[in-house]
Amino acid sequence: MHLNTAIATLFVSFNVLSLASPTEYYPSGGSGCPPISGDFNVSNFRLYPEGFDYDSVHCKAYFGSLYNGTVLKKDLTTGEEEILTFPGISGNDTYHLSTVQYNRKTGVMYLSANNGIAFVSNGVNLTGPNTFIKYDTSIDRVVFTADMGSILAELKARTGSIYNGYQDIAEDVAGNAYYMTTFGPSITKITPEGTLSLFFYLPPVIINGTTQANWAGIFSVGNVLVSLDNVSGKMFRLDTTAKDPFKDYSIYPLADSPPRSDVKIICDRIYPPPMFGGKIALCSNDGTGTYVFYSNDVWKSAKYLGLVASPNDGGVPTAACQITNSLYTNSEYFLDGGPTFDQVGSRTVFPFTDITQEVLKLTRSVG
Ligand SMILES: *[C@@H]1O[C@H](CO)[C@@H](O)[C@H](O)[C@H]1NC(C)=O
Ligand SMILES: *[C@@H]1O[C@H](CO)[C@@H](O)[C@H](O)[C@H]1NC(C)=O
Ligand SMILES: *[C@@H]1O[C@H](CO)[C@@H](O)[C@H](O)[C@H]1NC(C)=O
Ligand SMILES: *[C@@H]1O[C@H](CO)[C@@H](O)[C@H](O)[C@H]1NC(C)=O
Ligand SMILES: *[C@@H]1O[C@H](CO)[C@@H](O)[C@H](O)[C@H]1NC(C)=O
Ligand SMILES: *[C@@H]1O[C@H](CO)[C@@H](O)[C@H](O)[C@H]1NC(C)=O
Repeated sequence: MHLNTAIATLFVSFNVLSLASPTEYYPSGGSGCPPISGDFNVSNFRLYPEGFDYDSVHCKAYFGSLYNGTVLKKDLTTGEEEILTFPGISGNDTYHLSTVQYNRKTGVMYLSANNGIAFVSNGVNLTGPNTFIKYDTSIDRVVFTADMGSILAELKARTGSIYNGYQDIAEDVAGNAYYMTTFGPSITKITPEGTLSLFFYLPPVIINGTTQANWAGIFSVGNVLVSLDNVSGKMFRLDTTAKDPFKDYSIYPLADSPPRSDVKIICDRIYPPPMFGGKIALCSNDGTGTYVFYSNDVWKSAKYLGLVASPNDGGVPTAACQITNSLYTNSEYFLDGGPTFDQVGSRTVFPFTDITQEVLKLTRSVG
């Protein structure tokens, strides 16, 4: 597929980036990236990043621009940046560009250009299109895009229900991607060449005509997919090598989970920072902060370790990410443009908060 790129102006904020210790958490592939720590801002009119990730091989951060339907690719050390645009998607209000998901092994940056109205209507209007984008960071090109229409039609045919709200993406060891829906839980498998198949689904939970949000984020450790179901508050685990994924999955409660009356956990992104080798996952809950989960049995069970509170900057955390040796959360301002987050606001400065020390404080209890 074709990709347009435009070189944007340079906005450099060297002052906010300070030097940290050597990048010991990347034994290979990316150990050369200049260490980054401390809070920083990204200044770009209407960036509104819901998802972001870091290419630790080429040392570039990728910030998804939710409403523009573009990606800001930025060298956080030099400030050099460019905007990646996608024909038919960028500048098209039908799409929101949410998830940005990097795989160090394959060098792929996965992007979700999902149907905006599904989220804006909060599960009422599930009519729109969703596009999966596979971008190769080594050749700076879109490898392919895939429309999810055929899978949504298959879900409708099989279950009689309408699913929508594609969002997060995880990858297995063989480089297959798993793209999940939020309204009605389903997982679409996308091979490295771009062949789609419906891999898994559960019945949607529909209350008074509103399809509830089950999963928002998903991550993988090796061949195991893990998510948190917002409706039940339970963890979901599926081994992609299972003979029958529809039978061979598990659902279990988090140990030491906070009481459901206190918090409603939705993990907009649930992310295992490379520095913890797949044993820690950070859940960005669109509100109070970043929940820290732990597992030492490849997510057959999991424990809640605590909450890293959101920075008090008026935004909500929708994603966390390891950048060099530091852990960052974003602040998304969904309501800048009005009460239903379908309108874009007019903000230019977007803060990224270094939560490394707070997370390490919580993970110390489990070594
Ligand atoms: C980010 O920008 C805000 C508002 O302009 C400013 O108050 C804050 O100090 C900046 N943060 C950093 C780390 O530069
Ligand atoms: C987003 O759109 C605004 C114009 O509305 C433009 O100024 C800005 O550079 C765009 N940013 C990205 C990352 O697309
Ligand atoms: C926006 O996306 C919709 C759905 O894919 C498509 O029908 C429409 O042509 C697109 N508009 C533009 C201007 O590309
Ligand atoms: C659902 O959203 C689509 C796209 O914005 C719109 O055309 C349609 O009228 C909406 N349907 C309802 C029932 O609101
Ligand atoms: C469903 O709608 C009815 C009528 O508006 C209302 O009384 C009821 O509380 C609603 N149920 C739920 C679970 O929201
Ligand atoms: C998560 O689930 C709770 C309990 O069912 C519900 O009250 C809340 O609205 C859900 N959150 C989202 C974002 O759907």
